[in-house]
Amino acid sequence: MSDTQNIQWFPGHMTRTFRRIKEKLPLVDAVAEIVDARIPVSSRNPDLDAMLGKKPRIIIFNKVDIADDKANAEWLNYYKSNSALALPVNCKNGLGMSAVIPAFNELLRETIEKNKARGLTGKTLRIMAVGIPNVGKSTFINRLAGSNRAKVEDRPGVTRGDQWFVVGKGIELLDTPGALWPKFEDPKVGERLAFTGAIKDQVVDIEALAFNLTKFMLVNYPENLKKRYSIEIDDSDPLAVMDAVGKRRGAIMRGGDIDYERVAIILLDEFRAGKLGRITLEFPD
Ligand code: G4P
Repeated sequence: MSDTQNIQWFPGHMTRTFRRIKEKLPLVDAVAEIVDARIPVSSRNPDLDAMLGKKPRIIIFNKVDIADDKANAEWLNYYKSNSALALPVNCKNGLGMSAVIPAFNELLRETIEKNKARGLTGKTLRIMAVGIPNVGKSTFINRLAGSNRAKVEDRPGVTRGDQWFVVGKGIELLDTPGALWPKFEDPKVGERLAFTGAIKDQVVDIEALAFNLTKFMLVNYPENLKKRYSIEIDDSDPLAVMDAVGKRRGAIMRGGDIDYERVAIILLDEFRAGKLGRITLEFPD
C-alpha cells in the first residue's frame, strides 16, 4: 500500500482551458496565480508557468490558515529571495486580501504611467486569475469582486461568456477554469494534488492515498494525529494508525474488520478541512 500511486488526471476540458488562457493572455496586463500554501510546488502548473513568460504576475499564496505557519514564512522568504511577488492570503475569511489591489497597482505602475503619457489616463487594467482546481480561485474572485456582478463584454478578443469582474477602480479580473497539466513527471506531485482535493477522488485509490497521508503525518506531524483522534502512536505503522482511527470513529464492518474506505474518507476530509491542524506537504529546499 505504501508506494506512491501514479495518478494522472487531465480531462479534455483542461486542454480547451489551456488554449483559452493562451488566447486571452495578450488582453491582460498581469496575472494573479493562485497557489495552495500546503503544496506551493505541486499547485503551480509548469505548462502555465512557461506560457505566462514575462507577464507581470503576483502569486496569491492562499489557504495560509490551514498550512504550517513556519513553512508559510519559509516559502514567503523563498519567493522574496527569488524576486517573485507573493501575497499570503486566507480567501475564506479575507485575511490579507486588502493588499491585493494595491499590489497590482504597484506592479503595474509603469503601465499606468505609460498609459498616462499616451493620454489614456484611467485606462482599465486587466488581470487574469489562474490556478489549479480547488485552489480557491472562485473564493478569491468573490472576495475581490464583492457584490459586483460578472459582466459580459463585447469587444474584440473577448468572447461572450468570458467572466470579467470589476475588482477595483479601473481594474477588471478575468476568471479562467482550473487547469492541471497532461503528465505529472514526479508521482509525488500527483499524490499531493490528490491529498488536497485538486484531483478528484474518483480517479484515485483513496485507501492507498490515506495510507500515504498518514505515513507523511507520522513522520512530520505525529502530534496532530494523536490530538485529533485521541490515539496513542507508539510506532511508525500507518496501518496501525488507520486501525486506531477506525476504532475511534466506529468505522468497522460487519464481522469486526476495519472499514478502510471510511477511514480513508475521514482522514482525507479532515485533512482537507484543516481539522488535522495546519499542515504543509512541501518545503523549500
Ligand atoms: P476553485 O474555484 O479554485 O475550484 O476553488 P474554490 O474557491 O471553490 O475553493 C475550494 C475550497 O477551498 C472551498 O472549500 C473553499 O471554501 C476553500 N478555500 C478557499 N480559500 C480558502 C482559504 O484561504 N482557506 C481555507 N481554509 N479554505 C479555503 P469547500 O469545502 O469546497 O467549500 P465550502 O464548504 O468552504 O464552501
